[in-house]
Amino acid sequence: GSAILKFSGQCLDCVFFCRCHNLQESLLSSASGYSNYRGILNWCVVMLVLSNARLFLENIIKYGILVDPIQVVSLFLKDPYSWPAACLIIVSNVFILAALYTERRLAVGTISETTGMILHLFNLTSLLIFPSASILTVTSITPVGGVLSLGTYTVLFLKLYSYMDSNKWCREIRHAKAKRMTRSYSCKYITINTNVSYPGNLTHRDMYYFIFAPTLCYQLNFPRSPRIRKRFLIRRLFEMVRGNDQKHCPKILVVCVFQWMVPSVQNSMKPFQVCINTETLTVPNHLIWLIFFYWFFHSSLNFVAELLQFGDREFYRDWWNSETVTYFWANWNIPVHKWCLRHFYKPMLRKGVNKFLAQTAVFLASAFFHEYLVSVPLKMFRLWAFMGMMAQVPLAWFVSRFLNGNYGNAAVWMSLIIGQPIAVLMYVHDYYVIHYGSTT
Ligand SMILES: CC(C)(COP(=O)(O)OP(=O)(O)OC[C@H]1O[C@@H](n2cnc3c(N)ncnc32)[C@H](O)[C@@H]1OP(=O)(O)O)[C@@H](O)C(=O)NCCC(=O)NCCS
Repeated sequence: GSAILKFSGQCLDCVFFCRCHNLQESLLSSASGYSNYRGILNWCVVMLVLSNARLFLENIIKYGILVDPIQVVSLFLKDPYSWPAACLIIVSNVFILAALYTERRLAVGTISETTGMILHLFNLTSLLIFPSASILTVTSITPVGGVLSLGTYTVLFLKLYSYMDSNKWCREIRHAKAKRMTRSYSCKYITINTNVSYPGNLTHRDMYYFIFAPTLCYQLNFPRSPRIRKRFLIRRLFEMVRGNDQKHCPKILVVCVFQWMVPSVQNSMKPFQVCINTETLTVPNHLIWLIFFYWFFHSSLNFVAELLQFGDREFYRDWWNSETVTYFWANWNIPVHKWCLRHFYKPMLRKGVNKFLAQTAVFLASAFFHEYLVSVPLKMFRLWAFMGMMAQVPLAWFVSRFLNGNYGNAAVWMSLIIGQPIAVLMYVHDYYVIHYGSTT
């Protein structure tokens, strides 16, 4: 028996050595189905850093170390900047509970749909006005504290709007069911594979789970992951607080990139230097944005999701392959895009609004929130963020009309690499002029 095995083994070896070619595609051709380009991505980052190292070194030699990480940390610890912002965040619970209690009343029918709607709209409007009025009047609040608290309130606004809409849909379905509408329609939201059905969801626990969950869209019975994977959790935590698992350290990189940016920003205050320095600011600004993307959309949201066993981890899609501007906006920030589709865009389309008008309305709302999140904390109304967002509409038309494939993709990258720093520099310039009085 062993002799036969030995013989057949030798035959297999023989076949192996004789036939060294197979029918196969080269890895870089799309037909190969190969998709692991992680090394190439790292190569891009290394090339990006190396190609700009000259500027970085020149700045160090000329201006010395301007950003000292230890000084930054001690400043954060000494200055209790977070207090007014933290108080604002604690107060936001009032609005959360107001939404829950309004929904409870609506569910039992002690208030009418119209009264409920008025109460919700009052609550939602206060959610936007109260923090901005507080930030504009409280002088001790810093721009960082302002952005954090206003960001929290904006997220709450979107979440509570979704909470109001989703519970209203549940009531409509309950009503339809009561009128013996078709079973398939009535089942859509409530009864298939669910643990909780309306109005059993109107509890503090359910509400606060939604508030902390990494989504802006409410639904009954979120998909849940079976368990908390401790190793996954620790890896995401490690990436959030220190760096990622590939020995890169985004935080140090951010400090380096700032070190690289500061002289350019200072120079940009001089008249006629704005254009030149926009060019030197683009790469560090873009790197910070890429690092932020990974830190927030991958590490942080996955960390929170893992902790809460929140099952839907689609926080971003392959926006880096965008060949149109609309593809980019529909794929880089999925929580916001999902909210826009579910609560704004599709309802408008269903009411018969034309597609272009509906898209423009979404970008208008998005432009308002971008401006709100920048202008109020900086206490400076300039509309740069608003115009930057609204410029996406003609840009989207231009790219889809005249460019496609790799050219379209390059145009999207160009708008990200060049467009953003221009808006950032406009705010930096105006902030500097307001607080230091001169551009020279
Ligand atoms: C405006 C916006 C919502 C358009 O998204 P889009 O995906 O390009 O829109 P589309 O026209 O392709 O349609 C999307 C959906 O609407 C549906 N739809 C299209 N026409 C419809 C109609 N007449 N009636 C009902 N649904 C319709 C599509 O079937 C599609 O549904 P699906 O997602 O379930 O497949 C998107 O660009 C966006 O989210 N912009 C703002 C993003 C933003 O500001 N982000 C901020 C990040 S900081």
